[in-house]
Amino acid sequence: MLNSVHEVHNYSRQARSLGKKIGLVPTMGYLHEGHLSLVREVKKHCDLVVVSIFVNPTQFSPNEDLDSYPRDLDRDIKLLEKEGVNAVFYPQPEEIYPGNYSTFVDVEELNKRFEGSTRPTHFRGVTTVVSILFNAVSPNVAVFGQKDAQQAAIIKKMVKDLKFDIDIIIAPIIREDSGLAMSSRNIYLSEEERSDATILFRALRHAKFLIDQGERNTAEIKKHMMDMINAVNSASLDYVAVVESELFLEVDELVEGSEYFILVACRFGKARLIDNFLIAL
Ligand code: PAF
Repeated sequence: MLNSVHEVHNYSRQARSLGKKIGLVPTMGYLHEGHLSLVREVKKHCDLVVVSIFVNPTQFSPNEDLDSYPRDLDRDIKLLEKEGVNAVFYPQPEEIYPGNYSTFVDVEELNKRFEGSTRPTHFRGVTTVVSILFNAVSPNVAVFGQKDAQQAAIIKKMVKDLKFDIDIIIAPIIREDSGLAMSSRNIYLSEEERSDATILFRALRHAKFLIDQGERNTAEIKKHMMDMINAVNSASLDYVAVVESELFLEVDELVEGSEYFILVACRFGKARLIDNFLIAL
């Protein structure tokens, strides 16, 4: 286990001098199958896998769940050992953000929409910590999950704009048998809410069905989804949107040859869940 930036610098310098390709999987721990699928994906593209576990304070706003965010380091380490991960970078907050820390990375515009509108400083925290992790680990390749589609788009844009020499891979969403997208925050769901929350997958699947049937009007698609979700008592819908896949701008009509995300964010009790489908026409 590597705890300091100094140790991780040395680790990656040595690996690179031996001609090894490093793959990074950034996580906030409390790992589930979704994270492990990222490890398996990155392994295909590198010689050494580094997983970072860091619950990043700058991506939580003061009213969010930073203190109660689930943590289980021992279990995480066992899971990663089973996957044959080569190194775990587990820094303390003061290692990443010492008292005099004052530098932030912001991907403008894209960081304000959807997740950014309800969580105004969230993406600035994500892009800042991901930049720090990239500089600490110096990976050749890094993998992120499509579950956080807007985060993935923002990181791709940051890598392009800041010219990080890192290949970014976006790995598909891993779902439970019920269709519920895996997330560390699913732990906040009661049994009943967990079952109710499958409406997000069912609404997305219905949207895909409508599109497959030829529907191109996004207002119509969204109306069907909203009706389905609002019919579930415990669901408090935040947004449903159909956006183009790079800048997350909403569109009125779907056109052939383009890629879109159908996005949904919804609260069930204490858990705020997000999910999406990628639509390639
Ligand atoms: O997706 C996450 O778990 C986090 O946002 C990330 C990318 C590890 C940055 O803290």
